[in-house]
Amino acid sequence: MVEIRACQPNDLEDLYRICLETAAGGAPAAYSDPKLVGHVYVAPYALLSPQTVFVAEDPEGVGGYIAGAPDTCYFEALLEAEWWPGLRRVYSDPSDIPRPRRSLDHSMMHRIHHPGHTPNEIVKRYPAHLHINLLAHLRGQGVGRRLMNQWLRTIRKAGSRGAHLAVGAANSRAIRFYRACGFRELYPRARARSDPIWFGITLLNGGGITAGAES
Ligand SMILES: CC(C)(COP(=O)(O)OP(=O)(O)OC[C@H]1O[C@@H](n2cnc3c(N)ncnc32)[C@H](O)[C@@H]1OP(=O)(O)O)[C@@H](O)C(=O)NCCC(=O)NCCS
Repeated sequence: MVEIRACQPNDLEDLYRICLETAAGGAPAAYSDPKLVGHVYVAPYALLSPQTVFVAEDPEGVGGYIAGAPDTCYFEALLEAEWWPGLRRVYSDPSDIPRPRRSLDHSMMHRIHHPGHTPNEIVKRYPAHLHINLLAHLRGQGVGRRLMNQWLRTIRKAGSRGAHLAVGAANSRAIRFYRACGFRELYPRARARSDPIWFGITLLNGGGITAGAES
């Protein structure tokens, strides 16, 4: 039996572990610092927006999560004020290393020093954003769907009118999952395989969820 529940402060180490294990297409050894990817993709949500983080737990422990923020612009400003400065003191800026020679650790360090910002036209219509990750043993049983439903209900109640996410063009399993959950591709397909694909969903006032209209 898999329980979906709100994230608690003592889940943090599990969130780091799941983030690492599901990063880099399931090759966690590709990172030499095991915390780097979690510093970027999950820990700040658990610490700065815990009301929009949920975990999936079974008798083996916490094995999945959905983490996001109801207002991406506000969250990006919060990261700039309260999250990135501490990490910038610990991790150097790898900008002077030529891109082709950067490791995965370097690319996370680069994000810490030069975080990306979601395009305005996306955050205007789809202000919330999310990341979802399950360990292999929890996939394909409806757990992702349950986490997504819980998260969408929560951000709709928080007043968000839509949500977006970015997914790697090669992650066809996740792309099928997002489509099944009602998300729609916002732009024509990414040009390069390394470009992310943006998805959006519109949340109606008063309860409903509908697929985001394509731009
Ligand atoms: C992507 C992920 C979150 C999906 O969660 P999941 O629990 O495996 O998906 P579910 O079993 O809840 O499936 C929900 C719906 O998506 C569909 N779906 C999920 N995986 C699918 C697949 N590989 N092919 C086709 N449909 C799929 C299901 O058919 C289901 O639709 P239904 O409810 O109408 O039957 C999970 O597989 C995962 O964590 N993968 C690894 C990490 C990752 O890639 N995260 C996303 C990064 S952007």
